[in-house]
Amino acid sequence: MILVGHGLDAHRLVAGRALVLGGHTIDGAPRGAEAHSDGDVLLHALADALLSTLGIGDIGDAFPPSDPRWRDLDSRAILTHVLEQLETHVPGHALTNVAGVIVLDAPRLGPHRAAIQDALAGQLGLPCERVGITFKTSEGLAPDHVQASVTVLLSVP
Ligand code: C5P
Ligand code: MG
Repeated sequence: MILVGHGLDAHRLVAGRALVLGGHTIDGAPRGAEAHSDGDVLLHALADALLSTLGIGDIGDAFPPSDPRWRDLDSRAILTHVLEQLETHVPGHALTNVAGVIVLDAPRLGPHRAAIQDALAGQLGLPCERVGITFKTSEGLAPDHVQASVTVLLSVP
């Protein structure tokens, strides 16, 4: 059986923060996500997408933003935790593919696509061609925020 999952996340952009997407830091970005954790919207949306395949809550359950332990958390730890949860609930599952969209007006992310996809594929144990990430601007409608939406397909025995 194939299960679909979908997740979404958004954060405000502020100066003095690194812009981290899929565990990859965008060098030279003038602003990054204002967040309790590292603000990696792509990993947050991906983690929620994975949890939604099985209907087992969302990342706020295990990583509430109010908890001081998660200040400046590297969001790759969130993904690791969620992958462990999936394995506990459905041993033998396999992630089929990941499809994500990042909405950001600036900087241009096209030159970083391969690095972002590589970083995600490595964390998921998937070949790069199963991790597709596209980019959109907000056409100036939301210049101060970064958003990600991710869909996943999970094959379960
Ligand atoms: O203007 P629009 O949102 O349609 O732009 C889409 C194009 O711009 C796509 O080719 C997309 O990959 C690229 N883009 C980008 N970096 C962004 C936003 C969009 O490279 N931050
Ligand atoms: Mg977030």
